[in-house]
Amino acid sequence: MILSIESSCDDSSIAITDIATKELLFHQKISQEADHATYGGVVPELASRLHAIALPQILEGLKEYFPKLKAVAVTNQPGLGVTLLEGIAMAKTLAMLLEIPLIEVNHLKGHIYSLFIEKEAITPLLVLLISGGHTQIIKVESFEKMQLLATSMDDSVGESFDKVAKMMGLGYPGGPIIENLARDGDEDRFAFPVPLRNSPLLAFSLSGLKNAVRVEIEKLGGKEALSQQDQSDISASFQKAIKLHLIQKSKKIFKNEAIKDFAIVGGASANLYIRKAYEKLCNEFDKTMHLAPLQYCSDNAAMIGRYAIESYEKKIFIDPAKIDIGVTKKLQSGDYL
Ligand code: KG4
Ligand code: ZN
Repeated sequence: MILSIESSCDDSSIAITDIATKELLFHQKISQEADHATYGGVVPELASRLHAIALPQILEGLKEYFPKLKAVAVTNQPGLGVTLLEGIAMAKTLAMLLEIPLIEVNHLKGHIYSLFIEKEAITPLLVLLISGGHTQIIKVESFEKMQLLATSMDDSVGESFDKVAKMMGLGYPGGPIIENLARDGDEDRFAFPVPLRNSPLLAFSLSGLKNAVRVEIEKLGGKEALSQQDQSDISASFQKAIKLHLIQKSKKIFKNEAIKDFAIVGGASANLYIRKAYEKLCNEFDKTMHLAPLQYCSDNAAMIGRYAIESYEKKIFIDPAKIDIGVTKKLQSGDYL
């Protein structure tokens, strides 16, 4: 079995996965969303302190598994340095005490493997990763070969939902709040600009759209002046612009990539409105769409454990004395993850 730990942002999570069968034997996640809600976003130092409490709380109940563990896995990048270190400290201590190998996991690759929890992996695969930190399209040729085809120039999808919710004084995380409000909204009331609509660039950009929403809220008299209908209409119009942006750029890639399988992963992949738009696009291009179960779209240790099985089988381990948070180099399109 592999014990895996995730602490890259505001979720403290540990999982135990059976290496041979890929069965998820245990999974628990303690979310800090409520603790960060009053700040409208994640406060790194607070997140780190909360991981220091939550991770041992989860681990406490897992001692019976210790004799059966063959490896410990942990997210080491990308993420918040101070929160990653909490998971890393626990993982390397366990690996040294139990004298078992340590596996480092890239969080983005972990999200991709959320598709394969308790399943065999499918490759080649095109993946849209939409999370709080990233908006990317990745060509997954194999476990070793994952190439970035398009990435965000500024804010990510999840982040822009969070910021728009914050602008309307609606709490955190913004994604589910905006999606719910949008259901009762008129998506054509505000003609927010679709980012990079006339640009040949294969990239994502959401800061201009975010500013357009800010200006509209000001025109309506500020967040205090918004009626529930205004909030719904803003949410729906904003969500529509994001959808059109994602679909337009994805379409360009679909035209050039023959790969049949396509997947959406990451926290914002829980968004049903975006999922629906991609179902249509996949039908048009005769692609098969894959999604992770809803509970594994957002950050979790089950996906880290699933990825770690592949590393374990390939004997890709890291010395506990050498593991560190990864250097977060900004990847450009064409780079390998
Ligand atoms: O993958 P994730 O849990 O964390 C990162 O790796 O960043 O993603 C969290 C993000 C948040 O920004 C949250 O607002 C967004 O995912 N999110 C959504 C939805 N549910 C969560 N965004 C849009 N629609 C949703 N239904
Ligand atoms: Zn994530």
